Amino acid sequence: MYDQTRRRKNDHLRIALEEAVAMTRSAGFERYRLPHTALPDLSLEQVETATTFLGKRLAFPFLIASMTGGSEEGGRINRRLAVAAQQFGVGMGLGSMRAAVERPELLHTFRVRRYAPDILLMANLGAVQLNRGYGVEACRRIVDAVEADALILHLNPLQEALQPEGDTDFSALLPKIERLCRALEVPVIAKEVGFGIGAEVARRLVEAGVAAIDVAGAGGTSWAAVEAFRAKDAVQREVAFAFRNWGIPTAEAVREVRAALPKVPLIASGGLRSGLDVAKALALGADAASMALPLLRAAAESEAALHHRLEAIRRELQVAMFACGAEDVAALRRLTLQEVA
Ligand SMILES: Cc1cc2nc3c(=O)[nH]c(=O)nc-3n(C[C@H](O)[C@H](O)[C@H](O)COP(=O)(O)O)c2cc1C
Repeated sequence: MYDQTRRRKNDHLRIALEEAVAMTRSAGFERYRLPHTALPDLSLEQVETATTFLGKRLAFPFLIASMTGGSEEGGRINRRLAVAAQQFGVGMGLGSMRAAVERPELLHTFRVRRYAPDILLMANLGAVQLNRGYGVEACRRIVDAVEADALILHLNPLQEALQPEGDTDFSALLPKIERLCRALEVPVIAKEVGFGIGAEVARRLVEAGVAAIDVAGAGGTSWAAVEAFRAKDAVQREVAFAFRNWGIPTAEAVREVRAALPKVPLIASGGLRSGLDVAKALALGADAASMALPLLRAAAESEAALHHRLEAIRRELQVAMFACGAEDVAALRRLTLQEVA
């Protein structure tokens, strides 16, 4: 079981780094334009990008998305991401920690707190594992082991269905999620993996006690494509490819979840590729934005490449806020986006 998990994680990393795993449809941000103003009434330096999310300060409203751990290569990438998260003052999600529950000696590949003492750090586990004997104790152990501030439960039914060895029993999960939310000392965040969480599911999750939603919508990394590259036979490959562009586009998911749940802490992710996308996601209703694949590829290349990517995102967001006359994140979130005809 453990070797299977480790092999799958290494396959995922290699495929995400080397293959064309992006959806061929967009996350929907190009449908919107930020409202330019020729008279912003503030100086660029005055633009305040800092915010708080789940009680932690972020220098700008950004999180490095959950990706890796469980192998030596994954551990190296986690450490590099953590150093950058601390330097830039942003949050970070760890990859699924199931491997470390099965093999505690792998925990060190997720333990990044000493590289990032101040960041919002989030542990991660597949929600479906709650149907496979993982309970409050296992979740508490992984949160404590990495000194996380929150636990992300990922909901990935389609990804599991496209894996030959996938866990596909998603029945009666909600009461287990509810029990976990009640018992755990840290907030639980529900997240998809790139096919989106819509308003109805978000509402049920929040009623069950989930503290925040990461829509992780469609338009970026396609887990159907990743699984197609891993497929061992032709039918598996064909079925996986059929779902390549499946899901709720991120911009749409953010809008509908925010409309249904005006107060829930909301993360926009899935196909965001620039600081402009971050700005648009916030104006559409998100409290913070997140990216996975662009940061993974930068981190795998070099520390400098990762630094470049994060600095460009931060700077684009700051300049976009200036050019819209938004002096802080609250003002950015109040902007009305214009729909491009
Ligand atoms: C290599 C890789 C591994 C990932 N592993 C996880 C994971 O363990 N848990 C999780 O919740 N999401 C995982 N994701 C999904 C991302 O967190 C994110 O939701 C998704 O990739 C969409 O964002 P993107 O378009 O910016 O890549 C992974 C993504 C990548 C690229």
